[in-house]
Amino acid sequence: MSAEVPKKQFLSQEMELFGSPLYRPDPNQDSSASVTSQSQHAEMAFASDFTTFQHDIENCQKCPLGKSRTHFVFGVGNPNADLMLVGEAPGRDEDLQGIPFVGRAGQLLDKILVAINLSRDEVFIANVLKCRPPNNRDPLPEEVEQCEPYLRHQIALIKPKLIVALGRVAAKTLLRMEDTLKNMRQKAFTYEGVDLRVTYHPAALLRNSGFKPAAWEDFQQIRDLYQAKRKDAEVNG
Ligand code: URA
Repeated sequence: MSAEVPKKQFLSQEMELFGSPLYRPDPNQDSSASVTSQSQHAEMAFASDFTTFQHDIENCQKCPLGKSRTHFVFGVGNPNADLMLVGEAPGRDEDLQGIPFVGRAGQLLDKILVAINLSRDEVFIANVLKCRPPNNRDPLPEEVEQCEPYLRHQIALIKPKLIVALGRVAAKTLLRMEDTLKNMRQKAFTYEGVDLRVTYHPAALLRNSGFKPAAWEDFQQIRDLYQAKRKDAEVNG
């Protein structure tokens, strides 16, 4: 039997987390009367239409990175993708262009995608943080706390069959665990019911080419898993 989460189950998980995937609160309603916490309330307000959702959040000022960014980097690719790649945060090039993975690491990622018979247009690429941390420092826990609901809602709308966490920061954020990349790769995880695999961040491969054989091994497995899931969906609908 396929290990993937049926769409119905995914929706019911979102119902549990957010109240309703389709629910948008009445803007005229007195929110102080609500029993939900502010963050739950904010999540419930997310639009169920992808473009509306992007439009609604792209002026975010929930953390100080909103002031220092050039562009909010929502994500790029196919909103119906079966494969979603999640990086850490925009860097300088991404901040300037408003598109994830367009710098050197992004160019390497594009090559890796081609090597596993995929293109940017077929997948969806996003980051844990949507705004660039100054000097590319690691995301702070409070930034992740504010920003992760955006990623969670993106995943809920895209409903990928497979998520790939690129690097330790994306992996530890999504999996809520502290471990080394070496220990996390080659293991089967799930995030919100969706299969998740961990591999090296392309920037790590640029820094240390010694990681490349292991990364290639990971991406071949990712390709095989993705293709098996696509086939399974074709056969079973
Ligand atoms: N590194 C990331 O994690 N994300 C980007 O978008 C670019 C570099």
